[in-house]
Amino acid sequence: MRVHGVTRVPGDKSISHRVLLAAALARGTSRIDGLLVAEDVQSTARVLRQLGPAVSRLVPGRDVSVRGARFRSPRQTLHCGNSGTTARLVLGAIAGSSVRARLTGDASLRRRPMRRVIDPLRAMGAVLAADEAGTLPVAVQSGGLHAFTYSSPIASAQVKSAILFAALTARVPVTVTEPRRSRDHTERLFVHLGLDLRDSNGAVSYLPAPDSLPPFQVAIPGDLSSAAFLVGAAVLAEGGELLIEGVGVNPTRTGFLSVLERMGAHVERFNLGAMGGEPVADLLARPAELTGTEVVADEIPSLIDEVPLLAVLASRATGETVFRGVSELRVKESDRLSLIAGNLRALGGIAEVRGDDLYVRGGESRPRGRVETGGDHRLAMAFAVLGTIPGAAVRLSERRSVAISYPRFFDTLQAIGRAPRHRD
Ligand code: S3P
Repeated sequence: MRVHGVTRVPGDKSISHRVLLAAALARGTSRIDGLLVAEDVQSTARVLRQLGPAVSRLVPGRDVSVRGARFRSPRQTLHCGNSGTTARLVLGAIAGSSVRARLTGDASLRRRPMRRVIDPLRAMGAVLAADEAGTLPVAVQSGGLHAFTYSSPIASAQVKSAILFAALTARVPVTVTEPRRSRDHTERLFVHLGLDLRDSNGAVSYLPAPDSLPPFQVAIPGDLSSAAFLVGAAVLAEGGELLIEGVGVNPTRTGFLSVLERMGAHVERFNLGAMGGEPVADLLARPAELTGTEVVADEIPSLIDEVPLLAVLASRATGETVFRGVSELRVKESDRLSLIAGNLRALGGIAEVRGDDLYVRGGESRPRGRVETGGDHRLAMAFAVLGTIPGAAVRLSERRSVAISYPRFFDTLQAIGRAPRHRD
């Protein structure tokens, strides 16, 4: 296809969860512009309502208002749907409050590891009950938290943020370090809200304030992880160019743009600005001839959600691409590691997992076959992008999972590839 036009993507999912949670903890009514309206963020909104704060209905294009309130113990289990960020950040926030709650999620979320937040929250003084496997459902109550220093064994923004939100609600100081820097949206939001958050060579420290968090107004940038799929479609296109406006370009998220650059696709940035403490830009993407590359383990946290898309692009590149140290992909919304490799092979490509590394050999054969998405939104979108190349016949096992993060994805994908209508 040829791409064309100017488009936008929905609000950043990671930032949306954090802003809702912070607004729920503020004393007063906050207003949010550009919140993502999609299933994962609906899960956070629903769970927060059960805890007492009033979150207005989420309607695309309309501001959301949140009246913060002291959490109360919910009567019913908090259902986090498919959202790992909801489960882990809310566990942290509740651990620091004087309430008790039980959290669960859908079948995918109930398979995902919670030990990574349970252990540090217990070490902070919270009381959590989970089964042997350390998966949801998990019951949580505060045992009176204390000051805490944590050296996380994994680079996970969800772990770091669970601890920071526990510290915020319990009003205790914390310091968190991680082996590699994960996305820093919680840190940026805390600073934007005037909280005492410092970063000294990667050690993130929070010091509690004497007063409650005041209400705030904030605007959320477009989600770079959603924009990535449109960028991918533009890179694979036969001609044209695509401008995506108002996208968050936080450096802890832009790893895939650096990898694309190495592969031969330069995505230009214009109109650099800032929103709510986050850098934003317009992105201009064009078709490119791609060459394989090595993505090293240090880069992975900055592009963790873009591996499915990059792997799909690598399957069209000259030569081999290797993604080093991507074991975390096994515990995302699906086992992304085996599904990426298996689906590329099912479409006639060459891909394999060796240890914790993913190898993808590029080629020009037409991708044809059925893709098992595992109900995973990012796999559905990545393989839909592969389906846009001429001669491709990619059948997805389902399409509805895009509602998790990008409900109008298929409409937009079609619109950027359709020739503009001319009036005669
Ligand atoms: C997220 C962090 C990442 C990412 C997820 C969203 C967040 O997970 O994969 O989609 O909003 O904090 P980890 O923190 O577990 O790496």
